[in-house]
Amino acid sequence: MRVLLTGGAGFIGSHTALCLLEAGHEIVALDNLNNSSPEALKRVSELTGKQATLVVGDCTVEADVEKVFTEYGPFDAVVHFAGHKAVGESVSIPLEYYRNNLNSTLVLCNVMKKHGCLNLVFSSSATVYGTNTQVPLHEDLPTGCTNPYGWTKWMNEQILTDWSHAEKDVSVVLLRYFNPIGAHQSGRIGEDPSGIPNNLMPYVCQVASGKLQKLHVFGNDYDTVDGTGVRDYIHVCDLANGHLKALEYAVEHKGVEVVNLGTGEGYSVMQLVHAFEEANGIEIPYVVDPRRPGDIAICYADPKKANEKLKWQATRTLTDMCRDAWNWQKQNPFGYHGDENK
Ligand code: NAD
Ligand code: UD1
Repeated sequence: MRVLLTGGAGFIGSHTALCLLEAGHEIVALDNLNNSSPEALKRVSELTGKQATLVVGDCTVEADVEKVFTEYGPFDAVVHFAGHKAVGESVSIPLEYYRNNLNSTLVLCNVMKKHGCLNLVFSSSATVYGTNTQVPLHEDLPTGCTNPYGWTKWMNEQILTDWSHAEKDVSVVLLRYFNPIGAHQSGRIGEDPSGIPNNLMPYVCQVASGKLQKLHVFGNDYDTVDGTGVRDYIHVCDLANGHLKALEYAVEHKGVEVVNLGTGEGYSVMQLVHAFEEANGIEIPYVVDPRRPGDIAICYADPKKANEKLKWQATRTLTDMCRDAWNWQKQNPFGYHGDENK
């Protein structure tokens, strides 16, 4: 297959690029480098010995998307990763989130349609389950969101579902990711957040490296195993493999499917911290802070559908995730830029 990856220079996109190239497919990434570095795909080319082509362009600009299809197509399928993803920021600048995350999809789908490329895999999120407490979270549960970022995922799911209902040859797989962490085992590609990380694992890694002093645990009075929040952490390479399986499914089946990508197991903040300490032999100092507004107590997937429909399941353990995340951080203390002034 020849696959277009929008947002392909990002965290999940670069790991998926590597996975697809290793499986013998060709990829082209379209990315405006708003939250990523061209270095990621250079390293994917080095690791695989195959060409991970990057086209710098914006998915909300029709001419940019058209150019990729004309000059680098035809494509058998598209994975649409491109979008803004920070929950807190989406509350501060909602219009920018709706503009980028919705316009990119509308522009992309119109250009795909024009070029007869009708197979699409979309990056959705477990955030669309909102405040649902009925774990494990199954795809048929009612959805709803608590922040603008989440609503952009929810609206994109609706747009793509309507498109697939209207045009019988369209095939869409909506992947609801749980909490992707870790990095490729080589330590050459990984998650490179700008500024102080919002998410748990990158924060833990920066405490381990001494860049940050201590972890702030957001609440220890939840109704969970030890009072701290429980999440379904999934290794980014397992997640990448889920995209390969979703693409194979999409080219064989018409219509729309929504599929969770999670392990089906939940771990608390303190369980993750202890797993990190054990895997890497490093102590993580922490303090307990009040709950973070908008957080829920427990969130983990029912992964049965992914197993049945996509023939996929996660294979890597929490220890693997902690080891690989630290290996990346250790080798790249300042991310792809290689200096402190990012
Ligand atoms: P990321 O920020 O590393 O990757 C997104 C990429 O999209 C970046 O390289 C960015 O430069 C690019 N981009 C943004 N807007 C663009 C535009 N208009 N045109 C072209 N490129 C654009 O994020 P990620 O963690 O790799 O996430 C990928 C996708 O998965 C996102 O849609 C995100 O919302 C979704 N998702 C991520 C997580 C997670 O925990 N990382 C969880 C659930 C869903
Ligand atoms: C968050 C987003 C979610 C997004 C996901 C991946 C929110 C409310 N949700 O999920 O939409 O898809 O990131 O990008 O932001 N924690 C700490 N200290 C920290 C950071 C986190 O204790 O410094 C705790 C949180 O309270 C939570 C767990 O660690 O219990 C995981 O947090 P995080 O990594 O931010 O992911 P989510 O909140 O699950």
